[in-house]
Amino acid sequence: MAQTPVLVIDSGPVRRITIDRPDKLNALNAATIAALTEAFQVAEADRSVRVIVLTGAGQKAFVAGADISEMAEMDAMAGRDFGLRGQALMRTIETCTKPVIARVNGFALGGGLELAMACHLRIASDNAKVGQPEINLGLIPGFGGTQRLLRLAGRAATLELCLLGTPITAAKALQLGIVNEVVAVEDLDTRVDALAGQLAASAPLALRGILEAVIHGGECSLGEGLQFEGAQFGLMFATDDMREGTTAFVGKRKPQFTGR
Ligand code: COA
Repeated sequence: MAQTPVLVIDSGPVRRITIDRPDKLNALNAATIAALTEAFQVAEADRSVRVIVLTGAGQKAFVAGADISEMAEMDAMAGRDFGLRGQALMRTIETCTKPVIARVNGFALGGGLELAMACHLRIASDNAKVGQPEINLGLIPGFGGTQRLLRLAGRAATLELCLLGTPITAAKALQLGIVNEVVAVEDLDTRVDALAGQLAASAPLALRGILEAVIHGGECSLGEGLQFEGAQFGLMFATDDMREGTTAFVGKRKPQFTGR
């Protein structure tokens, strides 16, 4: 039986999903895309999971892109299907109702950057390199890169990265707003674990409300987005967690959120 390309490990309410093809710099082949999609669907449905950390195995790469050897053999229809499956994975992650942190531990190129951009937060090690180098293969980004990078970093940066295909440093990615934070390699786990712990202790339904409002808001008019936010805001008043959060504040104690 082929070895699964994805590892899933729980640490309390934090689920770590690791792409496990380090000898291929965790390149996304069809099997890995399928396994990742399933892993995210399972995590979404599992009530015990409150936060997801996505990372790549090994010291060198988060993900060095879609699998070039596999793509080299595809015709137009196979390429189209592959792109659609990649896009569907990114959408599954982006619309996940629990926060997803990308632990960017090295190269995040092509599909790797697209994968990181579909996550809700990106923490990169200082040796990471990110980029959309598909142009060097006679290709264009096909897992949402032209669209998510545009929304994250604007047109100038998107055109620069996609047209030139030259990877940039983590520091430059931070400057462009592509990653949230850059930390020394040796501090990556400490920082990611701290953020995951903070999110795991937060009110899950409010986290979900924020994720849904922000993702939806990025795709509709301001008026529609405000209406959606208003409805989500109102919904929070029906939750135990909102009662707990507000009474804990008034009572000068730490809240204990239950996700109800
Ligand atoms: N698809 C398939 N295999 C890949 C891959 C990809 N995107 N990226 C790396 N690999 C494989 C290499 O072929 C190599 O396999 P091998 O040992 O069987 O020959 C292995 O991973 C290690 O990569 P290697 O190129 O030897 O490492 P490096 O340190 O010299 O270079 C990179 C690292 C990231 C600069 C280089 O691997 C690279 O440019 N990768 C492709 C990046 C890319 O274009 N991504 C977009 C794809 S759409």
